[in-house]
Amino acid sequence: MAQVNEPMADVRDMFLAHTMPRREFRLLPQLVRDVTPGDLERLETVGAHAEHICLVLHLHHEGEDLLLWPLLVERAGEEAAGIARLMEEHQAAIERAYKEITELLPQWRAAAQHGLRLAGALSTLLTALVEHLALEEKEILPLTERFITAAEWKRLGEHGMAQTPPEALPQALGMGML
Ligand SMILES: [Fe+2]
Repeated sequence: MAQVNEPMADVRDMFLAHTMPRREFRLLPQLVRDVTPGDLERLETVGAHAEHICLVLHLHHEGEDLLLWPLLVERAGEEAAGIARLMEEHQAAIERAYKEITELLPQWRAAAQHGLRLAGALSTLLTALVEHLALEEKEILPLTERFITAAEWKRLGEHGMAQTPPEALPQALGMGML
């Protein structure tokens, strides 16, 4: 990458952005298992929360796919290529679990069906997610500081904010601060 005369990305906010999905996906499998049969209010509370957390994660990865990986692969060359392949494998495992969750979640919310399968899919996603986020923080963020400008980095956050329903934004931001 040619020398640029502008500020480079300050990646500290990504550690903040990772804290929330790490914590919430660690809690969700047991939250789902603990819903008492017939407790429709609790079912809806946990179900709506799970849907919200899944959306936040989906938007996070969508933003990185669109706005981060292509630039890193283009600019960091060999340094990014090997890691990017591994990251894609993680993303595929996460996507498989995510797809199963988004299929099961509406059935669980509507009729309390497949709760154990849903909890299992959430646990599977957690395993892949923990590995993925750790690799991203260790290998990708140092490259990002070198190859991505502050303005480009800002677009990543804006992508998530723009795609989140306005009524869900306060909760998403609040959970990110815990
Ligand atoms: Fe990330």
